[in-house]
Amino acid sequence: MKAGLLRGTLDMFGEDFIPSKIEHREEEAGTVASTLSITLQGGRPSHMFIYGPSGTGKTVLVKWSLNTITEILREKGVKMEWIYVNCLRSYTPFKVMQEITKEIGVEAKFRTKTEGTSGMTTEFIRALKSTKPGTYLIVVLDEVQRLFEEDPKEADVLLYNLHEANVGLDGKAHVTVISVSKDNRLKEKFSESVRSRYGHYGLVLNPYSAQQLFHILNDRANQVLHPGSFKDEVIAKCAKAAADLNGDARSAMATLRQAVEIAIREGAESLSIDHVSKAQDQNELDNLRHQIQHAPFWQKLVLWTIAYHHYFNERSGSTSAPVYTKNIYETVEKLARTMNRNPSLSDRSYREYLTQLEAASLIRLWPDNQGGRKGRKTLVELAGDKALTIMLAAEKETGFIGELGETREKLALNPSQRLL
Ligand SMILES: Nc1ncnc2c1ncn2[C@@H]1O[C@H](COP(=O)(O)OP(=O)(O)OP(=O)(O)O)[C@@H](O)[C@H]1O
Ligand SMILES: [Mg+2]
Repeated sequence: MKAGLLRGTLDMFGEDFIPSKIEHREEEAGTVASTLSITLQGGRPSHMFIYGPSGTGKTVLVKWSLNTITEILREKGVKMEWIYVNCLRSYTPFKVMQEITKEIGVEAKFRTKTEGTSGMTTEFIRALKSTKPGTYLIVVLDEVQRLFEEDPKEADVLLYNLHEANVGLDGKAHVTVISVSKDNRLKEKFSESVRSRYGHYGLVLNPYSAQQLFHILNDRANQVLHPGSFKDEVIAKCAKAAADLNGDARSAMATLRQAVEIAIREGAESLSIDHVSKAQDQNELDNLRHQIQHAPFWQKLVLWTIAYHHYFNERSGSTSAPVYTKNIYETVEKLARTMNRNPSLSDRSYREYLTQLEAASLIRLWPDNQGGRKGRKTLVELAGDKALTIMLAAEKETGFIGELGETREKLALNPSQRLL
């Protein structure tokens, strides 16, 4: 009988899963632990900030640390609880307070916004005193920048009130806030009074290297997959691709998950390099589709034509040669005419589209210095080797699917009818 690939579930690759250990963030976890350990001496832990770009492990660091440390401290007699609020979902102080109070069991008290954040805080203090005396409450505000985008004044008042709750609590319970954000300049948006109350106590997480990502993915794969069902090189491929891009553990984890899904669909007993390649292609195609989907019609047509030129050259055996932008323009016009598209593409818009496509790393442009000053021309070439992918995406994402698709097929079979 086949053992299958999974020993755990695919959800364990997801964001809500808290891993048994946290790789390459031990030092930061140690800092969180020592900050919270002040409670052993009866002190209130300082508020903390955690900054870093996407996928640097901010959320998992906070959740893992609080899970682990709270447990240890509880064993030593400290009453500690933590509440996690994702401000992307709860993006106003009202929603944040609703969530916090729900967690401590006084949900019904706030039905309207009219009471204001201050009124809600008074209620929160009263409830905390009576229901959780002696508790150190840690409030995590993940993606806290979202509150400031929504209403910076109100967000500032919320932070102020959460700090000042400690005055109202008068030592009967304690509140510490851990703010998590991608925006490392967030504090500039705080009022003086909030800035001074929240201090400068922050951790900054940097993007992961390929080696660090390897350890993180390998550890997760060991928890989700059967031993022996994957090799180091498979994990290394996912890690390297993400490290080359931006060091984002989330995208690395997503590729690994996608590769496992492909392997399962294929009924494979082990995860191979090929599964990862397929997952990466799929990702690339998804990203391209997304990019192309949001481009204007003419830009799609320009990109399609450049990709077509590349594809045609490949199919007819010659290596891809750059082409003059002028020729691409003429072809675009020709195609548009056959599609009854009016008005035609202006020269200026055409140049703008080319610049945008270059900025998106889809094409490369450079001046042709051969012809002297007179009639200086620009050459264009597809960046990378994804001509067919781009064409298919453009065809799929536009109203001209059939027409261009047929053109491509016909011309590819009959090289004498080349477009350019
Ligand atoms: N050091 C680590 N050890 C184990 N897993 C990790 C580590 N860092 C990141 N991960 C995993 O990578 C994924 C992304 O991490 P996380 O969600 O913590 O990133 P983030 O910094 O909060 O990103 P964002 O700013 O986009 O929310 C999660 O699935 C997480 O479990
Ligand atoms: Mg996060």
